[in-house]
Amino acid sequence: MRRTLQLCSLTLAMLPACGAPEDSSPPAVPVGAVAFIDEDPDPGHIEITVVAGPARWEYLPGKPADVWAYSDANAPDAAAQVPGPMLVGRVGDRVTVHLRNALPETTTIHWHGLKVPAAHDGSHVSQKPVMPGETFTYEFTLTDAGTFWFHPHLDSENQIERGLYAPIVVRGGGGADDIDIEVDAERMFVLDDVKVESTGKLSETITPLDLMVGRLGNVLLVNGRKQPQLSTRAGARERWRLLNAANGTFFNVTLPGHKLRVIAWDGGLLPEPYETDTLVIAPGERYEVLVDLAGGDGDTLTLQTLFYDRGHDLPDFGPRPLLTLELDGAVTGPRPALPTKWGDVKALAVDASTPVRKLLLEEEEAATPADEPRFFINKEAFPDVTPISVGMDDLEIWEVTNDATMDHPFHLHGTFFQVLDQPVLGWKDTVNVPQKGTVRFAVRFDNPGAWMFHCHILEHADRGMMGLLDVKH
Ligand code: C2O
Ligand code: CU
Ligand code: CU
Repeated sequence: MRRTLQLCSLTLAMLPACGAPEDSSPPAVPVGAVAFIDEDPDPGHIEITVVAGPARWEYLPGKPADVWAYSDANAPDAAAQVPGPMLVGRVGDRVTVHLRNALPETTTIHWHGLKVPAAHDGSHVSQKPVMPGETFTYEFTLTDAGTFWFHPHLDSENQIERGLYAPIVVRGGGGADDIDIEVDAERMFVLDDVKVESTGKLSETITPLDLMVGRLGNVLLVNGRKQPQLSTRAGARERWRLLNAANGTFFNVTLPGHKLRVIAWDGGLLPEPYETDTLVIAPGERYEVLVDLAGGDGDTLTLQTLFYDRGHDLPDFGPRPLLTLELDGAVTGPRPALPTKWGDVKALAVDASTPVRKLLLEEEEAATPADEPRFFINKEAFPDVTPISVGMDDLEIWEVTNDATMDHPFHLHGTFFQVLDQPVLGWKDTVNVPQKGTVRFAVRFDNPGAWMFHCHILEHADRGMMGLLDVKH
C-alpha cells in the first residue's frame, strides 16, 4: 500500500494517530534514519541534548577509526554515529538544543540553512566558543520546510572531517505549505568522503593539494558507510534527500537508466520540478529528488558519482559507486499521480534599479612548500575583513565573480537567496560559482544581526575565504 509520507512514515505507520487532522504524532522520519529523542512532550516544542565527543566508527568494516561524532544524550545505549542523529521537526516548532561539549577542544553548532536568530547561528560572530566540558543552549523556531544540516563552525575543516555533522528534516506545518507527495519510501543520503588508512583509521596526512582543493578522501560515504546496500522494490517511487557534507569533494550523482526528478533545493520545494540525468552537488548544498525505480525483482541498481571538472586538473576517476539498491519484489498497481501544486516561491522583484554588490573570489598558491595557500573575498582574508552593512529588508543583487581556477561553493548565513540568469526559480543558501565564472543572486535581508558568508570548501573558509554581513535593524 502506498502512503503519504507528509502525514505518516513507514517507520511510524503503526501509530493510530497517523493522518489525524490535528497531527500531534512525531513527524515522520526517513527510512533507516535515527532521530533525536524529544525531551519535551509538548508537540510544538522539540528539546534535545546533543553531545559532541570522541567516538569509534567503522568506515572500513571491522576496522574502527577514532572519530568525533554527535550522539543523543537521551539515548544512552545508542553509540555516537557518523553522521549524527537527525533533527526532525515541523514548520512552527520551537526548538531547544543543549550542546554538551565532550571534545578536547572548543566547538559550536551552526544550523546550515535554518533561519535562526543571529545569536543562535553558531558562527564566529554569533557566539563564544563552547569550552570543553561546557554546555550551550540554542533556541530557534523552524520557519521553512526542507533538508538542512548542522555542523561546527570552528576549525570546521577538521571537526566536520572527523565526523561532526548531522542532517535536519523540516516538514510542512500541516498548513498551506504541506505538499502531499505519495512515495513508497523517503530516504536521507548524506554524502561525504574520508581519507582512510588501510588500518581503517582516519589519515592525518594533509597534502598541499588537500589544502588547495579541500581534503580529498579515498573512501566515499553515504550516511557514514562505504557503499551501503539497501533493499527496496522494483517500480517503487522514492524521495531522496541528498546532502553534500564533504570538505571539498563535489558529487555528480547519477542512477544509470533513470531520470532524477528534482523537487527541492536548499530552501525547500521548487514551484515546478525538473528532470536530469546527473546532478552536481557542491559541498554544503542539498537537493531532493523523486526517482521511479525501473528494473525487476532481483536486479541491483547502483547510485554513482561521475567526474565533474571543478578545476585544478583533478584526476578523472570515472564513475564511482555510492550505494547499491537491491530490488526485492515489485510494487504493483498504478503509480499515484504527482501533486499538481508544488512549492510556493515568489520571485524577488529585482530590476535595473536594484543595487548590485560585487564580490570577487581569488586564490593565491603557497609561495613555498612550507606555506599554505590563501583565499580572498574582495582582496580580504578573514578575520581581517570589512563587514558588509545592509538595512533590514533591503533587496540587493550579489554578483559573485570567481577569478580562481577552481569552483567555489558560496554560502550565505541567515537568509535564502534566488539565483538569477538560470531557468529554475527556488531558494538557495549555497551556490556553486564555477572557475572563472560569475553567479548573480537576488537576496532580501530579512533576518537582523551579524552573519557570515563563505566558501563551503572548508579549507578555503578556514584560510580566508569568509566574510561578515551586518543586517541593521
Ligand atoms: Cu555549512 Cu557557515 O556553513
Ligand atoms: Cu550555514
Ligand atoms: Cu573555495
